[in-house]
Amino acid sequence: MTIAKNKYTIFIMKRAFVTGITGQDGFYLSKLLLEKGYEVSGTIRRSSTFNTTRIDSLISDYKNTEQFKLYYSDLLDSSSINSLIQKIKPHEVYNLAAQSHVAVSFKNPHFSVLTSTSGSLSLLDAVKNLDSNIKYYQASSSEMFGGVGSESLNETSLFIPKSPYAAGKLFAHNITRIYRESYDMFCSNGILFNHESPLRGETFVTRKISRAVGRIYHKIQNKLTLGNLDAVRDWGFAGDYVNAMWMILQHDKPDDWVIATGEAYSVKDFAREAFKVVDLDWEDYVLSDKKYERPNEVHHLLGDPTKAKNELKWKPETSFKDLVKMMVESDLLLAEQEKVLLDKKLIKPTWDNS
Ligand code: NAP
Ligand code: GDD
Repeated sequence: MTIAKNKYTIFIMKRAFVTGITGQDGFYLSKLLLEKGYEVSGTIRRSSTFNTTRIDSLISDYKNTEQFKLYYSDLLDSSSINSLIQKIKPHEVYNLAAQSHVAVSFKNPHFSVLTSTSGSLSLLDAVKNLDSNIKYYQASSSEMFGGVGSESLNETSLFIPKSPYAAGKLFAHNITRIYRESYDMFCSNGILFNHESPLRGETFVTRKISRAVGRIYHKIQNKLTLGNLDAVRDWGFAGDYVNAMWMILQHDKPDDWVIATGEAYSVKDFAREAFKVVDLDWEDYVLSDKKYERPNEVHHLLGDPTKAKNELKWKPETSFKDLVKMMVESDLLLAEQEKVLLDKKLIKPTWDNS
């Protein structure tokens, strides 16, 4: 964005505020925005161990600039959220923070639900009070659909949430729409289907599989135990999906958008494809145990991204096969390093190698 003033040209960087910046999407989105010339400010949580691993490369790359800034906060601390919005005066807000693990949301329901509900409300209110022209992106989720049938799901499909996580996300989704309609604000929901990457949290099923394939190939793990092998998901690449987040806020009007690939595969399919990368047969290694099943399972999620394709001109660039290969190849390197450390007795396995 540039503003011409008399004979001088003043460059004004767009400012983005990102919650959940230490997460998978936080990294890919921040990278994208920084490369586009944005000033990116993000919230991190105080932790007794370092939790910035995913964004350390960005911290390093931008350390001599004023372009990348981190602040301690938590979505449950509404006063700090409000102060940060007042201080940063962002042009765009991306609310990515959440306790995002569905199974964990059954174990920590209050925290999971409150982060999405109270968190989105604090942020929306802070935005409304400062400047209702600020653009707001809410990380909505396909999990809100509940995955009962096998039809493909779009912006008009029914929401039947099945977990505390999904119920919290549905509140955030609705309050985002309500602020848009009530206060004429630019508030949009991206209803994103599952998206993965080499930076995916290691307890999500795709990464659990790619990590295990790397270790099994390097002979430092014997078996992989999963839960429901028949669950079906529409898996895309996180790098493609953060581009959709940005495009949603550049569109001429605020709206709700389904972002998906339009192709569905089972957990079994993912495992088969991942073991195939290293010429192994998944059936020789994968076990199933009920302990990894949820109290209320979402069986089938397939998205229909037609609206985003037609109106945003967004489309996924990475195929299922390429995504699996990218994740396995990255985890083969990590396993190779772990093997060296194990051989030197510098670490002990923290993974299941029974
Ligand atoms: P992620 O890797 O689990 O990252 C979640 C982020 O939220 C982390 O930075 C985490 O901080 C932060 N966070 C958690 N609780 C918080 C709180 N109370 N206050 C402030 N920050 C908090 O998730 P992701 O895969 O990047 O997903 C990004 C967003 O999209 C999430 O809202 C998720 O629910 C949603 N979503 C994800 C997918 C997907 O397939 N990835 C699909 C649909 C929607 P720490 O690092 O300190 O834990
Ligand atoms: N995590 C995990 N671990 N899931 C397993 C396992 C296992 O060992 N075995 C089978 N699954 C099945 C789960 O029961 C689920 O049906 C499916 O694999 C995918 O599980 P996750 O990878 O944990 O993702 P998710 O679909 O529950 O949730 C993710 O996608 C949502 C969008 O639909 C998360 O990223 C959510 O934050 C996101 O909103």
